[in-house]
This record gives sequence, structure tokens and C-alpha cells, in this order.
Amino acid sequence: MKMRVFVPRDAGALAVGADDVAAAMKQAAHARGLDITIIRNGSRGLYWLEPMVEVATVKGRVAYGPVSPADVPSVFDAMASNGSHPLRLGLADEIPWLKRQTRLTFTRCGVIDPRSLEDYRAYGGYRGLARALSLAPEAILADVTASGLRGRGGAGFPTGIKWKTVADAQADRKYIVCNADEGDSGTFADRMIMEGDPFVLIEGMTIAAVTVGATKGYIYIRSEYPHAVVAMNAAISAARRAGYLGERIGNCSHCFDLEVRVGAGAYVCGEETSLLESLEGRRGIVRAKPPLPAHKGLFGKPTVINNVLSFAAIPFILAEGAKAYADFGMGRSRGTMPIQLAGNVRYGGLFETAFGITLGELVDDVGGGTFTGRPVRAVQVGGPLGAYFPRALFDTPFDYEAFATRDGLIGHGGIVVFDDSVDMAKQARFAMEFCAIESCGKCTPCRIGSTRGVETIDKIRRGERVADNVALVEDLCNTMKFGSLCALGGFTPYPVMSALKHFREDFGPAPMRVEAAE
Ligand SMILES: Cc1cc2nc3c(=O)[nH]c(=O)nc-3n(C[C@H](O)[C@H](O)[C@H](O)COP(=O)(O)O)c2cc1C
Ligand code: SF4
Repeated sequence: MKMRVFVPRDAGALAVGADDVAAAMKQAAHARGLDITIIRNGSRGLYWLEPMVEVATVKGRVAYGPVSPADVPSVFDAMASNGSHPLRLGLADEIPWLKRQTRLTFTRCGVIDPRSLEDYRAYGGYRGLARALSLAPEAILADVTASGLRGRGGAGFPTGIKWKTVADAQADRKYIVCNADEGDSGTFADRMIMEGDPFVLIEGMTIAAVTVGATKGYIYIRSEYPHAVVAMNAAISAARRAGYLGERIGNCSHCFDLEVRVGAGAYVCGEETSLLESLEGRRGIVRAKPPLPAHKGLFGKPTVINNVLSFAAIPFILAEGAKAYADFGMGRSRGTMPIQLAGNVRYGGLFETAFGITLGELVDDVGGGTFTGRPVRAVQVGGPLGAYFPRALFDTPFDYEAFATRDGLIGHGGIVVFDDSVDMAKQARFAMEFCAIESCGKCTPCRIGSTRGVETIDKIRRGERVADNVALVEDLCNTMKFGSLCALGGFTPYPVMSALKHFREDFGPAPMRVEAAE
């Protein structure tokens, strides 16, 4: 029988040699006169095991990892004979790290061939669209609203309300825009979806189009994601060929088509209005709101802008019903969140789970603590504008409101772990520096404040009038928080203030002693 072997083509796996492993697999098969099919799947998100190679058996797919090209001959023989091997991980679906997840959005990622529409359909793809096409737009909106889905890009705005605003708007043309700029530090879930299950994004965007009456969509992908661009373009062509995009999608009267646009590498272009400017061919500068993009967005027309993960959650909601999604989660955070563990962490990767799991469980238990083996001192949750949490806050449940109550945010679900060697004053400086570099320059608190913030933190780090300068940084943060036009300037205070609040000992000598010495 022909062997079916899976070697990921995910960028994370490629970075650690997956292409070489695939080539070595082919060579090993050839040398043994065996016939194999190599499927280039996405990643399952267990990055410390990449390249993780799988072979199909009658009992299911058996995984091996991390596999280097030098391991391939012996791994190949173990695969062929179903024998033991030090890198053998057992049935992929039974790997505890994977098994304890609740994969609603990532159910197919790493499982299917991302280039195969047939595979996507065989694993439940396009059931959501089929149901959507049988419903009136109001009924789809009711489902999306009842699911409790909130935008996964960062702000957590209810998706149902956003879609209804666009559906209610009167215009000759409407647009669907997918925000795949994914600029947050430690995040990679959007990339994984685009590389590992691109049709789910296309299906989610198509359902949005049918609901609000849009005919054209754009996926704005950051330039650092060349593999995602290729994967999305291939999937769009396949969907078009099969009648899932273009005129009369799914043999109905709706027409909808998609195009990929590549960003030019600015963090602020992830901000939705700045992204629209960029899509229209201008420099990415934030627009004042109102008007909301839902009323006057791309080319002045009503526009749905959602994150990749928000769109990718939609097919499940339509196929399985709003309740099946909303049954997971806590409080107003319904469903699951694809959490990304990164930084100095032992088990880094993609962990999709229902809202409500605590930060401590995620870092210590799921993440296994630090990669260096030193104690965890801080974690930054929600990207470069997210707060630093100390161990004392590890009982915080992963939930939009619980994080907000503790002056934090969950953002796009990225968690970056730091061990006890971290200098938190340096991290606070980095937040201000990042803002200064990435600021679009439209408003003064952000453009000037961030540069003054860097200078003032430098003074603190040098031990100059520490108490006065700390007070100045706090004042500056207040101005940035309340005076900035968008969240780049408005949220930079979160990492700075949390570092000051929870790790005060890192900010120069104790104020009393400094003042006594002056
Ligand atoms: C500076 C800045 C950067 C942002 N970057 C992203 C991003 O990379 N991806 C994203 O989806 N949203 C990003 N956002 C949030 C978007 O403005 C917007 O809220 C989101 O795309 C809406 O989609 P959602 O409702 O599905 O989350 C950013 C916001 C700001 C202020
Ligand atoms: S806060 Fe910063 S990035 Fe946002 S509009 Fe103002 S200057 Fe631009």
C-alpha cells in the first residue's frame, strides 16, 4: 500500500527544516523502492516538536518529532514497519497537549491538505456557507450575534453588531476586509490559519458577504508572511474554480470575489482605518472616527473589517449553530480563543481553548514554564500594547472583562513569557520606543509623548531624580491614554504602567534613598 506521509509546510516548520525533511523522506522512499505520497499540511501548533511528521495508519495518524533530515532514514523505517523509535509520539490526536484543547476554529489546521478543496469539504468545510445560503440575512445575523463572537483582532467588539451595521447601511457597493496584518508580538494564529486551513477564512468571509450584501473582499496580509500569501492565493483560485467565489456563488444569486493585498510592514497598518488607507494606496495613517468603517469604509463604502480568527470562527457557528459555540466560555467571552504561547516558554505553540482558563494554567501547566528552566517572572499578554502580569496575577481567567479589571487586555491572544533575568524598566522603555517608531504621527500625545517617554525612562534607569521622573512618566501615560486618537498611543501606557506597578524594584534605586542622597 502507498504510504501517506504528512510534512508541514507551515512557516514555523519550514524555519526549522521541514523542506529538507520532506526531500529526505522522498529520497528514503526512493532508496527503498517504496511509493509514498507526501502531503504538505499546516502545523498542528506544537512548535517545539516541529518538524512534526505524520504517517497515516489504519489506527490513525502516527506522529514523529522533532525530525531532522538525519533522522529521516530511521524514522522512515519505523513508519514503514510501525516499529518503535525515540522520536515516535504515538497517535497525533492522542498527544495530551493537543487532546486537552477545544479546537473549534483550528479543527482542521495541521490535519488537512491546505491546497485541497476536496479535503476541506471532506472535513466539514462549506457546511456553514450551505446553511447560510438557506437562511435570510437576518437569521444569519441572529446566529452570529447569539454565538457571542467578539472580534479576535484585539478590541473584542461584538461581530454580530458590526455585521448588522453594515447590513443595514444603504449603498451601491459594500466590502469585506480581512485584517491579516497580525503585528502583535508573540502571535501567529492568523498565519497558521492562512497556511494550514485557508478555505475556512474564505468561507467565513463569504458568509459575511452574503449576510451584508457585499460583492468584493480583500485580505490584507503583512509582507512578512510570504507563505500565507501563496497559500491564500492558491485557495482563492481553487475556490473560484469550484464556484465558491465569483459569480453566483454556490449556484445562488450572490456574487463575491476576493483578492489578496500585501502590506508594506507598519504595525499601525493593523489599525483598521490605517489599513483602509493603505488598501486605497496611501500611507497608513489613522482616520478619525466617526465615520465608522461600517458606514464609510473602503473607498467610502460600508465595510466589514474583521480579523482572520473572527472570520474563521464563523463557518463553525453557522454549521453547528450559535449555541454550540456559545456553550463554551465564561461571562461575556463566549466560545474559544486560539491562544498563542511564545517567548521564553518550554512548550510554545497554538492552544485553542474555551475562555476561562487561568493565566497560571496557561503559562505553568500548558506552557511548562520557561524554556531556560528559570522561574517565570512576567508575561506580556495581548501584544506590544498589552500589560505585563506578574505571578501574583496568574489567577486571572482568560476573559476580556477579567483582564480589563486588572488593567490588562487579551488582545489577539498572544502570551509572551519572560524569566527572572528580565529587566522590566528596559521592557517599559521598549514599549515607548516601539510606539515612537511605529507612530503614524497624526496626534501629539503619541508622536511626541512616546519619544519623551523613552528619554524619561532612560533618566530613571540612570538613577536621575527617580521619584520625579517616575511621576512624569505616569503623567505622560495619562496624557497618552486619554489624548491619543487610536490605541497605539492610547494603549502604550499599559505595558509601561504595569511594569512600574508590578516591578517597581527594576526602576532605579528606591525613590526615598535617591532623594536622601541628592
Ligand atoms: C495599532 C493597532 C494595530 C492593530 N493591529 C491589528 C492587527 O494586526 N490585526 C487585527 O486583526 N487587528 C488589529 N488591530 C485592531 C483593528 O483596528 C480592528 O479592531 C480589528 O481589525 C477589527 O476586527 P475584529 O473585530 O475581528 O477584531 C489593531 C489596532 C491598533 C490600534
Ligand atoms: S495614537 Fe499614534 S498611531 Fe494612533 S493616530 Fe495618534 S499618532 Fe497615529
